[in-house]
Amino acid sequence: MQSASFQTSPPLFVPNNLHRLPAAAPTHDPDLATRICSPVQKSERASRNEDWHSDLEIDRKFADENAQARTIRQIEASHLLSNGLAHDLNNLFQVANTALSLIELRSKLGREVDIPALVEKAELALDRAKTVVRRLTLLPVQSYRTVAPLDVNSAVQTLYGLFALLAGSAIDVRLDLAPSHAHIACNRLDFENALLNIVANARNAIAHSGVISVGTSVQHEIPVASASEAGRYVVVKISDTGHGMTPEVAAHAFDPFYSTRAESGGTGLGLAMVRRFLDETGGWSAIESTVGVGTSISLFLPILEDDLADHGSALADL
Ligand SMILES: Nc1ncnc2c1ncn2[C@@H]1O[C@H](COP(=O)(O)OP(=O)(O)O)[C@@H](O)[C@H]1O
Ligand SMILES: [Mg+2]
Repeated sequence: MQSASFQTSPPLFVPNNLHRLPAAAPTHDPDLATRICSPVQKSERASRNEDWHSDLEIDRKFADENAQARTIRQIEASHLLSNGLAHDLNNLFQVANTALSLIELRSKLGREVDIPALVEKAELALDRAKTVVRRLTLLPVQSYRTVAPLDVNSAVQTLYGLFALLAGSAIDVRLDLAPSHAHIACNRLDFENALLNIVANARNAIAHSGVISVGTSVQHEIPVASASEAGRYVVVKISDTGHGMTPEVAAHAFDPFYSTRAESGGTGLGLAMVRRFLDETGGWSAIESTVGVGTSISLFLPILEDDLADHGSALADL
């Protein structure tokens, strides 16, 4: 039986043999940047006296190439983001579609159906999809997201109905929330889409029936190497009884465009979007997985100071 445990972002500590992954997955071709920016290459060219006539000219040429490399990186980042947002949109449409299909199917079969509850969930998903579409149209604008205090337990509770629809009726979705409410500073929609992506993956890993658990806990003591990183974290842990990951898959799961499900529509963007959310929130994640048994993905999110959280958990619009 193969087991994997990987920590995927900053950690300055390595708990329980969790292995560290490289800090950030490359969103651009690093070789290209090296080729363009390397100072060694600059001196080589100069010494070979190809068609370089003066230091000034060389510097101008390299400044141009650096700008070019930066532009390429920006285009790639925005390409990843737009694809990732389209991917998030897809999860939300799936939820709305399942809710409406359930109404139709159960009504046709003359079975009992709670229409208002299902319509409410479809509306919730479509409302969020509307915001994602607005984001897509605002992509060229840098600061288009609101960060606000978010009550993690309440946000998870609100999502429960969407998790259940996304998972389908053969999968039991369970919540196990911490007794105390912790706040984090984040964009609410990003938080929600991150969790929906992880739940969608858990569903994909379960062949027939199974269990997905979403738990929250507050971690007071995290052994960290650097005092500046010390603090309290709320941990959101999503566990499933699916097919699990090999160490090789776990090591790459958060890489953009990495997917073992390409034939069945996988894009490899779900966990890349989760990673993006973590980078922006100052959090990190850990994967623990055993082939044939299941997977747990934990998100470690820095808790907001109490005085800030007292300002309430306003719903960030974008
Ligand atoms: N809960 C899970 N159980 C097993 N494998 C998983 C799980 N979550 C993610 N993975 C693996 O990580 C890969 C990347 O996930 P993701 O970025 O969401 O892309 P996608 O779902 O489109 O393949 C998946 O293809 C799968 O191999
Ligand atoms: Mg996915």
